[in-house]
Amino acid sequence: MPSNRTVLSLFSSAGIGELGVEAAGLSILVNNELVPNRCAIYQENHLKTHTICGDIWEKEDEILSAWRERSAENPFLVYTTPPCQGMSSNGAGKLLSEIRQGNRHPEDPRNRLILPTMHIVKALRPVWLLLENVPTMGNTVIRDKDGIPIRILDYIQRELGDEYCGAASVVNCADYGIPQTRRRLITLFTRSERGRTYWNTHGTFLPPITHSEVPTASTKKWVSLRDSIGDLPPLDARKGRNARRDVHPWHFVPVMRDEKYWWMEHTPEGCTAYNNQWVNPKCGFQGNRLHGSQVERGHHTANRDTPIYCERCGSLLPRPTLVDKATGERRLLNGYDTAYRRMEWDVPAPTLTQNLLFESSDKKVHPEQTRVLSLYEALILQTITEYSFSLTIQGKYISKNLCAEIIGESVPPRLIEMICRHIVSISNDA
Ligand SMILES: C[S@@+](CC[C@H](N)C(=O)[O-])C[C@H]1O[C@@H](n2cnc3c(N)ncnc32)[C@H](O)[C@@H]1O
Repeated sequence: MPSNRTVLSLFSSAGIGELGVEAAGLSILVNNELVPNRCAIYQENHLKTHTICGDIWEKEDEILSAWRERSAENPFLVYTTPPCQGMSSNGAGKLLSEIRQGNRHPEDPRNRLILPTMHIVKALRPVWLLLENVPTMGNTVIRDKDGIPIRILDYIQRELGDEYCGAASVVNCADYGIPQTRRRLITLFTRSERGRTYWNTHGTFLPPITHSEVPTASTKKWVSLRDSIGDLPPLDARKGRNARRDVHPWHFVPVMRDEKYWWMEHTPEGCTAYNNQWVNPKCGFQGNRLHGSQVERGHHTANRDTPIYCERCGSLLPRPTLVDKATGERRLLNGYDTAYRRMEWDVPAPTLTQNLLFESSDKKVHPEQTRVLSLYEALILQTITEYSFSLTIQGKYISKNLCAEIIGESVPPRLIEMICRHIVSISNDA
């Protein structure tokens, strides 16, 4: 059995996915992250890891030296989770030809973070490379060091060369028993001989799925929102009813403005407040036009003419509106019908994002209670509560906004643990 189980972690934020790396028996020697308060949380939770805080472009040499000071071997794994905000969902072919014709604005600079990443990977030649990102990374085009446009995945493969085999695949976290339909692109490459033999037989390095929407002989049914948080004491976005810190320090939610509360309390499970119907008991009309969107010149635009007054009795509907300061008139709030929307109890939660405390963001409202999810519930849905993780800096709790940010940007540690255990087992196979 190979003794080297060391890891370099890049773009590590507060180190949440890394909980799964360590639970799989791997040891993270060095990590790098840009933002100081994320580094501080990382250090609080990964005591044996040497953290290098700063921009990877500037820290490349320091990361390599720190590794070499701590290990004479190549890493077993480079685990890297570059930021995903710049990843485009446009077709790669169209983008490539537009860039070649000089028609397109240069790509988001965050996408080029794969360049220093691959410099480090090439210098350290890990046995395994595990890269996590959004599925649209598969379609994202960057310019290489010579300014030549290339799909990120082709760039990774080109830089790794023939010594490595592997691929990128889209994974739904719900298929691994995580109560969230979070879809991610998992890229796994190895240069190990056992890995290549495994690859030639299986064509994937992903562990077999354990759950599916419809259960089968080898999979259980997806874990639903109700299964995972249905038993927790209720909360309400009204002052005085919005916290149960006796249950858990993070079981609280923000207070909602009265008007928003009114929109949301009339919104049924799985629906958006933009489609709410009557509240006037004498009317009862259910046929007010619904909200929607259309594609205009290639862009999705939300409808602006969705009625805000009942089309039968004229009373104000509990739909998202505001009084326009310029005209003094009430009008519909701009937004898509995914906003001010309740989740559904009997399916996994939608993808948690760093906006999880905002009811105006996509599908963020509790299926039944008038409030968003508590941070404790988010920790459960992201599987963080299955590990020991402290949301503190120097012993003091971090702010709720920082907590939401690091949860929303993190990788569910259970997914990473399952992947890491699997690649360790492949490496151990005689
Ligand atoms: C998707 S998050 C990583 C999530 C993390 N693996 C986890 O599970 O918690 C990406 C991180 O990359 C960091 N980052 C962005 N630009 C960076 C840069 N130039 N150098 C180093 N880190 C950077 C961001 O601050 C962010 O914390």
